Amino acid sequence: CGIVGYLGPQQAAPLLLEGLTRLEHRGYDSAGLAVLGTGLRVAKKAGRVRDLGADLPKRFTGKVGIGHTRWATHGPANDVNAHPHTDAKGDVAVVHNGIIDNAGTLRQRLTDDGVDFASDTDTEVLSHLIGRSTAETLEERVAEALAAVEGTYGVAVLHADFPDRIVVARNGSPLIIGVGEREMFVASDLAAIIRYTTTVAHLEDGEMATLTATGFTTYRQDLTRIQRSATEVDVDPASYDAGEHDSFMHKEMLEQPAAAERILRGRLDERFGTAHLGGLNMDARETREIRRVKILGCGSAYYVGQMGASLIEDLARIPADAEAASEFRYRNPIIEHDTLYVAVSQSGETIDTLLAVQEIRRKGGRVIGLVNVVGSAVARECDGGIYLHAGPEVAVASTKALTNMFVGFALLALQLGRVRDLSIADGQRLIAGLTRLPGQIEEILAGEDALAEMATGLAGAESLFFVGRVRGFPVAREGAQKFKEISYRHAEAYQTSELKHGPLALISTEVPTVAIVPDDELTDRNIAALHEIAARRGPLVVVTHAGVDLGDLDVRRIDVPRNERELDPILLTIPLQVLAYHAALTLGHDIDKPRNLAKSVTVE
Ligand code: G6P
Repeated sequence: CGIVGYLGPQQAAPLLLEGLTRLEHRGYDSAGLAVLGTGLRVAKKAGRVRDLGADLPKRFTGKVGIGHTRWATHGPANDVNAHPHTDAKGDVAVVHNGIIDNAGTLRQRLTDDGVDFASDTDTEVLSHLIGRSTAETLEERVAEALAAVEGTYGVAVLHADFPDRIVVARNGSPLIIGVGEREMFVASDLAAIIRYTTTVAHLEDGEMATLTATGFTTYRQDLTRIQRSATEVDVDPASYDAGEHDSFMHKEMLEQPAAAERILRGRLDERFGTAHLGGLNMDARETREIRRVKILGCGSAYYVGQMGASLIEDLARIPADAEAASEFRYRNPIIEHDTLYVAVSQSGETIDTLLAVQEIRRKGGRVIGLVNVVGSAVARECDGGIYLHAGPEVAVASTKALTNMFVGFALLALQLGRVRDLSIADGQRLIAGLTRLPGQIEEILAGEDALAEMATGLAGAESLFFVGRVRGFPVAREGAQKFKEISYRHAEAYQTSELKHGPLALISTEVPTVAIVPDDELTDRNIAALHEIAARRGPLVVVTHAGVDLGDLDVRRIDVPRNERELDPILLTIPLQVLAYHAALTLGHDIDKPRNLAKSVTVE
């Protein structure tokens, strides 16, 4: 979900709508605004921000306001469940990200007291708690309400009796305060306010702030003051514009060569065949003591984590595996002192990844982060890490951040390998390979037209398989993930070797298979599996290397450039992004905002 707030000399509503549009990737099933002019007015609606804007009453005036774009957790996406939520008198408006765990109990208590609830949401309890408080200041009322609440939140509150301010609070869900020329902003994401200001202050968990037209003050939830000052952030507002592209996904795919170059910059040491990763905060001796690597992430970050695990096993010969962060925490994991835990996340906000990091830290384990968003929650909670430098990623489907995660793992594997048994020569071989990657990614992207044509064919299928083996299997998983999330076709990944243990039963002329067949030690076995599919008349798209002889097989073929075997997975992944993108385009879907999904999943 996304939050934005404004206070200053301009009309709030247009600014809030604009901010919400830029936050839509975070949640887009409903949106709403509250503005304080003569009294408090609220407008909210299921659907997109543009629908809200179109329906906004002409004189929705006021220079203080808050807005929200929602990704439904409690209750369906309808008009009443959209934020802001108000109290019984209509004096208070609240927008909230996160989840209030004890909402059920609080709701019951309030209902017993005669409060009528308008919505099914957990947030509404907050509006009533604030509305019923008799404390003197708005800050005290908000603090009192929050003291009754268990859960995670980023909240912004307006009150008709305190028209000069917005009170905000954070616990587990990010909030940024933006300082403009005699105007103030608040947002859950820089994207919402970057066009107006780059001077920002970050709130920490357990902190609150009051925004007035002249500035902001910060304090803890017991209302003791703390000092936070705003600093300049170094981002290009153009990163938040799709420019001439039809979607952010397209723009971000094409940015991959430049992004890959950025993550490598200054981190390669050709002379010693190793990587420089100062941010890991580990010396050579500590690095040598690592006996195992455990990688945690969600969605695409989890799949690229699997690619990372093979890189580490191949190059450093340290046992490594990846697990969905969402599952890890609930199996009471055994935390070992000589295991290096790696949290991987574009946003650095995904709640399951964050909670996994906290669980490891609580048990004394060492965690590093591979994170794109600088200063995000995961980045801050880790012992060290590698920033991905992919630049802001807006499309829900991750492309450039994912590629940089892979490169980040390669750098980590190199550093881990070179304090162990990886030779200088092998280190240098990998460095040469890494240096070739940006150009090779560019080469694959240049073949977009041919890929688009293949994608049109695949888009017609109701169901598809993506198959690969060993290094190719996470590629297949990521390929299927991308395809299903934006084309809404059923796409399932399988190990090629397991086809005969089930999936072959489904193969027919109607069910195409996208097979990952790199030129490696398994090429012959992979080709044998292609024959088994062809014998059942399953259409085939094969992602492979030039020179791999597919004999008389009738396939659509995609050749990617060769690199070092260890680095092949990322090059095999790029065409799958393009296929998914063009399939979704053919089907006419909203590529950047696939239904039911969100860019950052900040609720468990
Ligand atoms: C969501 C997005 C995915 C993303 C995953 C992890 O599910 O839709 O595209 O891979 O979250 O996000 P993170 O920010 O932790 O990398």
